Amino acid sequence: MQEIIKNYTNLINKKLDEYLKIQYPNTIFESMKYTVTLPGKRLRPIMCVETCKIFGGDIENAIPTACAIEMLHAQTLIHDDLPCMDNDDYRRGKPTNHKVFGEAIATLAGDALLTFAPQVITQYSKLPDSIILKILNEYFQYAGAYGVIAGQVIDIENEGKFDKNSKADCRKILEYLHNHKTSDLFKLSIKTGAIIAGVNDNILGKLEVFAEKFGFAFQISDDILDETSTFEELGKTIGKDKQAGKLTYTTLYGLDEAKCKVDCLTKECYGIMKKLGIKSDIFSSLIESVRQRSGLE
Ligand code: IPE
Ligand code: IPE
Ligand code: MG
Ligand code: MG
Ligand code: MG
Repeated sequence: MQEIIKNYTNLINKKLDEYLKIQYPNTIFESMKYTVTLPGKRLRPIMCVETCKIFGGDIENAIPTACAIEMLHAQTLIHDDLPCMDNDDYRRGKPTNHKVFGEAIATLAGDALLTFAPQVITQYSKLPDSIILKILNEYFQYAGAYGVIAGQVIDIENEGKFDKNSKADCRKILEYLHNHKTSDLFKLSIKTGAIIAGVNDNILGKLEVFAEKFGFAFQISDDILDETSTFEELGKTIGKDKQAGKLTYTTLYGLDEAKCKVDCLTKECYGIMKKLGIKSDIFSSLIESVRQRSGLE
């Protein structure tokens, strides 16, 4: 099992390196490549490729989109770490992009990745134009002001404020921000993989619900780890959420309830897979890793 994940990861890493060639002006490509090629878990591209495979598509056809989504993810990380956002000094075990290249180049590298990624899709995909258009529509939906950006805005706007709102309001805000800042990239990954394999809109809708629940559980696990893990394990500074007064599931409900929520959401994910007749060791292993990260089992 781990072998298949390793194979996917190696393939994705090889292609990321190939698509991101250093060229003039070198600084921007070096900065883009720095964060993209640091060792992340590659969850989103793995999910894109695996979904394509599950529904009978050729995984080769999903590689450009999968890599584009990892580039978009790196963009969100670079901007998330900036001093004007979460102000983090470490990412993936190394100094953050702005620590190495400075804030101006890091900001530009994020902008460049956001626009470079759809170019990778149009330039390298060997798919009919109608499918490429569908993929791009999903990309713009989830990358922009309806997607990750919306989630990040609400995340930032609610820093240090959650004790001023009622618990019911906080819960709604939290669901909105987790859905957009985190689930949207999982929706993008899973839906585009399925679109490449040619699935219908009905199944796409069910996959979207799966991705929403997976993303919610994943973000809660990230919030739990911020309280319970170590720098060595995570590769990023821990304890920052509480310090910044972030609205997270753990700050709102405490660790035990957060764990229960992950338990519930991941079981719902298994339920959707069962209903759709999906048997995937990769998906099961990714769900299990979210449970383990949260201290379950
Ligand atoms: C970090 O995502 C950002 C969150 C949504 C919590 P990952 O934990 O997937 O980061 P990498 O790609 O492995 O570095
Ligand atoms: C980030 O959430 C989600 C993004 C859009 C990057 P966090 O701010 O909790 O992610 P980390 O903990 O810095 O990776
Ligand atoms: Mg953040
Ligand atoms: Mg952050
Ligand atoms: Mg976090």
